[in-house]
Amino acid sequence: MDVLDRANALARAGRIVYHLEVGQPSSKAPQLALEAAQRALSEQVLGYTEALGRPQLRERISKHYRTVYGVDVAPERVVITTGSSAGFVLAFLALFDVGQSLAMANPGYPAYRNITRALGVRPRFIECREAGQFRLSAAALATVRDIDGVLIASPSNPCGTVVCADELLRIAGVCTERGLQLISDEIYHGITYETSAQTMLAYSPDVVVINSFSKYFSMTGWRIGWMVVPEWMVSTVERLAQNFYISAPAISQVAALHALDAAPELDGHVKGYAANRKLLMQALQCAGFGAMAPADGAFYLYVDVSPFGLESSVFTSRLLEEAGVAATPGIDFDPVDGGRWVRFSYASLQSDVERAAAAISRWCGTLKQG
Ligand SMILES: Cc1ncc(COP(=O)(O)O)c(C=O)c1O
Repeated sequence: MDVLDRANALARAGRIVYHLEVGQPSSKAPQLALEAAQRALSEQVLGYTEALGRPQLRERISKHYRTVYGVDVAPERVVITTGSSAGFVLAFLALFDVGQSLAMANPGYPAYRNITRALGVRPRFIECREAGQFRLSAAALATVRDIDGVLIASPSNPCGTVVCADELLRIAGVCTERGLQLISDEIYHGITYETSAQTMLAYSPDVVVINSFSKYFSMTGWRIGWMVVPEWMVSTVERLAQNFYISAPAISQVAALHALDAAPELDGHVKGYAANRKLLMQALQCAGFGAMAPADGAFYLYVDVSPFGLESSVFTSRLLEEAGVAATPGIDFDPVDGGRWVRFSYASLQSDVERAAAAISRWCGTLKQG
């Protein structure tokens, strides 16, 4: 957020800034969703909806699991939320008491640890390093004792790593054996390259899956997402959601229903991310960056900047000031070793990623000469 503020200040002062720090698509919501929202604005009241979400949308998400993953999920288990961010709050509150512990990968999305701490739940890190290709595994989970649950994200932010189906099965097995609550953040599903991501619902009847229309569906600002919860959790989550949020925005629920039919348009965006990914990967490798996490999915490259001899927040600050490229320092994602790593997002337009890649290469060249 500090990088974004500074990048915006530079842009306001007339500098050209390439935004490789933002974790969101540069595209609009899909056309079908926009048209449905426009119709709803003129024809519907758009008041509160059911706390669990509009029945039609819950049914359609249930169908999504059948068609995309071949998994049966009763619509009654689907809960519509104000983005996955609300899903985390609801899940953590429903599953954990104050003082309990939730294990999660490090590096990882910072809101996981911030939300758990705010709710009095203790985050416990599972170190996911180069040796394990930055992927959370059943073996790594086995090294963490005295925990009450585990949160897995595949594809992950910031690494973009996907956990394969066999490993998901093993992780689900460990959770059943040890009686751990399992939460699966599947927000980057649909955005994968040379692989695909299976839902944890295929392996665990008790998992809480959290998903969103923000990333693949290109609807960050619509604040709409969903959870799939075990039957025994539905009424708890319903009461929490009713009290916290009343309901997710009605207009966004209308749009989301139609976004689920927009695969041809949305898959076109994924093709664009794939081209950006290839281009940026090549540029960073040539520019002398170190190791890179396997970017199986999402739209991030997580790379080692230690060959340049700068700590990551110094690196990103100078990259922004001197080359006009905004990127995110690894310390945001990893309090232990984040000083070595930087996350580049390639969700922008291809022309911007191309120009940003050229600016990074030039600037890294001057660093090496200096
Ligand atoms: C891994 C991950 N989970 C969840 C979120 C939150 O997304 P939203 O609340 O827009 O659904 C993000 C946002 O960047 C993310 O990267």
